[in-house]
Amino acid sequence: MITIALLSLALAGQAQEKSGLAKPENIDKSAWKVDETEMNRKIDSLLSVMTLKEKIGQTVLYSSGYTVTGPTLDENYTDYLKDGMVGAIFNAFTADYTTQLQKMAVENTRLGIPIMFGYDVIHGHRTIFPISLGESASWDMEMIKKGAEVAAAEASAEGIHWTYAPMVDITRDPRWGRVSEGAGEDVYLANKIAKARVHGFQGDDLSDVTTVLACAKHYAAYGAAEAGRDYNTVDMSERKLREIYLPPFMATVEAGVGSIMTSFNEISGVPSSANSFLLDEVLRKEWGFSGFVVTDYTSINEMIPHGYSKDEKQSAEQAMNAGVDMDMQGGVYLNHLEELVKEGKVSEERITEAARRILEMKYRLGLFQDPYKYSNQKRQDETTYKPEFLEAARDMARKSMVLLKNKDQILPLKKDQKIALIGPLVKDESNIIGSWAAQGDRSGKAVSVFEGFEEVLGNMKNVTYAQGTSIDTDDKSGFKAAVEVAKKADVVVMVVGERENMTGEAASQVDINIPGVQKELIAEIKKTGKPIVLVLMNGRPLTLSYENETADAMLEAWFPGTMGGAAVADVLFGNYNPSGKLTMTFPRSVGQIPLYYNAKNTGRPKDDSVEPKYRSKYTDSPNTPLFPFGYGLSYTNFDYSNIKISNTNPTFDQDFNISVEVTNTGNFDGEEVVQLYVRDLFGSVTRPVKELKGFEKISLKKGETKTVSFTLNSDELRFYNADMDFVAEPGKFEAFIGKNSSDDALKVSFELKK
Ligand code: NOJ
Repeated sequence: MITIALLSLALAGQAQEKSGLAKPENIDKSAWKVDETEMNRKIDSLLSVMTLKEKIGQTVLYSSGYTVTGPTLDENYTDYLKDGMVGAIFNAFTADYTTQLQKMAVENTRLGIPIMFGYDVIHGHRTIFPISLGESASWDMEMIKKGAEVAAAEASAEGIHWTYAPMVDITRDPRWGRVSEGAGEDVYLANKIAKARVHGFQGDDLSDVTTVLACAKHYAAYGAAEAGRDYNTVDMSERKLREIYLPPFMATVEAGVGSIMTSFNEISGVPSSANSFLLDEVLRKEWGFSGFVVTDYTSINEMIPHGYSKDEKQSAEQAMNAGVDMDMQGGVYLNHLEELVKEGKVSEERITEAARRILEMKYRLGLFQDPYKYSNQKRQDETTYKPEFLEAARDMARKSMVLLKNKDQILPLKKDQKIALIGPLVKDESNIIGSWAAQGDRSGKAVSVFEGFEEVLGNMKNVTYAQGTSIDTDDKSGFKAAVEVAKKADVVVMVVGERENMTGEAASQVDINIPGVQKELIAEIKKTGKPIVLVLMNGRPLTLSYENETADAMLEAWFPGTMGGAAVADVLFGNYNPSGKLTMTFPRSVGQIPLYYNAKNTGRPKDDSVEPKYRSKYTDSPNTPLFPFGYGLSYTNFDYSNIKISNTNPTFDQDFNISVEVTNTGNFDGEEVVQLYVRDLFGSVTRPVKELKGFEKISLKKGETKTVSFTLNSDELRFYNADMDFVAEPGKFEAFIGKNSSDDALKVSFELKK
């Protein structure tokens, strides 16, 4: 296979120049604005006086003991700091603490080089927005950018300069707990979200104290872990790597991301932290990335159990020579680089290059101008939980929610209905903020669904409550009370789902049903004959066949964040008409995984009109998902009609339009995400049955019609052909515009001509 050959050639340092690879069209460095000559002068002069040891110090990153995000801690980090042997610290925050640590570096070391503070600020720092997968379901780039801006503003006021986000791993396996941190399964959408997040975090000036340096992670293909088990092996073709897993990283480079984090996994036998194909060939040479590369937590050391390095010293040599500039928490650069240079195994130039890249980012952040400028108690006090941040979090939460079912228009609820609120997540104020929630408060600040109801209804005279059970125990002692309150209600709203730490890092699961006895509780409530509205809080696609058959309505609320409960109430009572669309396929069962919309057709696609046996299918399940990518309902109806194409025979240099009319035929104003998919019918290599090529979120008043038009050209139709050139091929295509990836109702054909 071309892949293996190419990867090993590259690893042997003999990669040949290839033409036609996807390259960044333009790298937006507007946030990197400094006087480059001034910067180079400063850094040249600094490097000229730095000892080898001091340069190595810049490449060392340690976690403070303030919070823990990995398996090891080195208690000596403050000693290293005072010795100038640390370039950056993560997991430290608050204006006060970061000032203390910065002083150790600035006042104790020979050159007083400021340190940089990093932290996982993923979907908020204190004001927590919905988990990233939830945000992606809004398909709203402005709001996603806004979420990152708010996170940056709160975090930077506490002295944080650098966030480990966005996570841009494509995720097709809901068993993998980290699907909650990404933007789902589709490349086109993920690229847009990746850019929005980088722009949100970095703003238009990295030295502005309200912005932070972004770090795209986990480079690369971490989401493709075999069997959805975290940290597991990845082995894939170069084609799949380049078409599916690398583009969102390239998108962050285009957006001007300043740093990239390597992943824990190996790819086709080579761990990412020593993968010169990824780090040198692709990232530096093909894409022209000029920020710095940091590892994930001890991932250099982990090349020993991977079976790639014989000891830590060799792992340090391999990582540095492959292009990793900074070692997160592993201590191997600190402990071995000096000796490796003496032995001639790593060149001092390479270490100077790594130190330079890191120093440049510190300069761009403005730390040489004033190392303490971010850590500001007054700004911290004024910025944390600003009312406008909470309002934005509420708005984002509403927009992220996906209405999965609404039989007989049972939703929106009416304020005078007697409502029973049942379930372990009704009063929850901890799980609701999700995993990787930085300093999000879990003990009372978050608005629970119960409190959201109180706020929206004004009083709870028509509402009763029973917890019923807990999230994942077998405790049924609360069932009876829950059934009693259900019997007296007009409608039952059940808030069920996962614990927040069932997703996130190291949280893979083989069973993705709603855990514990929650399903049994639903069954008991069903027996009362009362209509059931399920509100789901979870960090991954769940298998919901039973719930879909049993409940009258289902609202996917994800882990919606600090204002989550208020947003749920807004949606349930119709103050906001849901508009979210799934960005990951919801399978019927774990046995279907991986299941994603842009799959290949196979030579024997399932087709019930022909001999059914010898077909690509299961004998015990449909192939189709329970809910497809792009799916989501509204309280109103949208009718699609009149699809048109401006040119059915476009040539390679011609733009052409495909348009559709969308009419709101229901009883509510609403928003709809109109989606364009394309199928390339045949090529020098096979293409997926559909690929998203455009979307637009529109807002339509009751009765209103809008024409939505997408412009395409041959650039949008490119893929890696049989020679691994990124090109479009002439030939026949189909284009679909619809409500989700399974909606085939409106279709046009065209033929791309040379
Ligand atoms: C490990 C995680 O994989 C990564 O996403 C995170 O940024 C680091 N730990 C730092 O906490």
